[in-house]
Amino acid sequence: MQTIPVNTNPPYGVAIGPGLLKDCGRRLREIIPPCHMAVVTDSIVGPLYLETVTESLKTAGYTVSAYTFPAGEGSKNFTTLSAILEFLAEEHLTRTDCLIALGGGVVGDMAGFAAACYLRGIRCVQMPTTLLSAVDSSVGGKTAIDLKAGKNLAGAFLQPAAVLCDTDCLKTLPPAVFADGAAEAVKTGVLCDETLFALFEDGTLKADPAEVIARCVAYKAGVVERDEREQGERKFLNLGHTVGHAIEKCSGYTIPHGHAVAAGLAVIARASEALGWAEEPLAAWICACLRKNALPVSAEYAPEALAEAALADKKRAGGNITLVIPKKIGLCELKTVPVTELLPVIRAGWEA
Ligand code: GLY
Repeated sequence: MQTIPVNTNPPYGVAIGPGLLKDCGRRLREIIPPCHMAVVTDSIVGPLYLETVTESLKTAGYTVSAYTFPAGEGSKNFTTLSAILEFLAEEHLTRTDCLIALGGGVVGDMAGFAAACYLRGIRCVQMPTTLLSAVDSSVGGKTAIDLKAGKNLAGAFLQPAAVLCDTDCLKTLPPAVFADGAAEAVKTGVLCDETLFALFEDGTLKADPAEVIARCVAYKAGVVERDEREQGERKFLNLGHTVGHAIEKCSGYTIPHGHAVAAGLAVIARASEALGWAEEPLAAWICACLRKNALPVSAEYAPEALAEAALADKKRAGGNITLVIPKKIGLCELKTVPVTELLPVIRAGWEA
């Protein structure tokens, strides 16, 4: 078991290792006094882990109640958020109580947002159960729901009080759900350096996910510590996401986030080479790594449709949009371009 510190204000730890759900009550008692814990989870994760978590919390002296919503991106909206907030109020949670997000990225984002809104903010503990939430979304305090116009368009920053990442949960993930998380991990490798990137080429991610999660979280922790509210450096973590979010939106959210980010990363890597910002064989290298991790490197939607969908993205500021351009493994650049230049960039990297 290892704990990665995240030195935000307040600071917290990301514990990574086996058996953490069974032991969550004892661990949380080290940082949170007895209180009411509201566990928010979904219809896939709840039946698997809710009982274990509830038992452990009760044994440690917490009062526990639970709210379960239907699994999937389709639930990440105002209707579910409102139902969670009403639930917290009906359960009389107060400012000294705590919400636990037990699940993958959708649960973490939405439960985190509920914690940020309820009584203008209560404590939240993230318990990621997917690779995607373990390597990325449970850490750093971004919370959100989707709007009709696009993904994550309403949200807040709320750093968790703790993150408990039980790596036993990864053992039973369906291959496509594991691959989804691999996309965010590969993205981190492209941003960080060749040593981390190599772990996604040589099979280490499958063989020792705890080690890879720890390294991805340590990288992200550093970025978040330096730029908690995405005023600068944190924008790099959006690598692959402008086109990725557009692919998700064009698919009506039937293509999962990680798969869309993988295709988005491939598009921007090919565009970077085609436009002379990166040298060959960067795109081929990234695409080979994505394929090796059972991820797509193309999208079936036309560049025009993707550009239109992307322009609702948060990364747009007035008439400009900031793109994260990979130049080589371990080196990316932020390029702010007029929105009219997005379509030519996507065209340059698009492949059917
Ligand atoms: N997932 C990107 C970030 O947390 O900033």
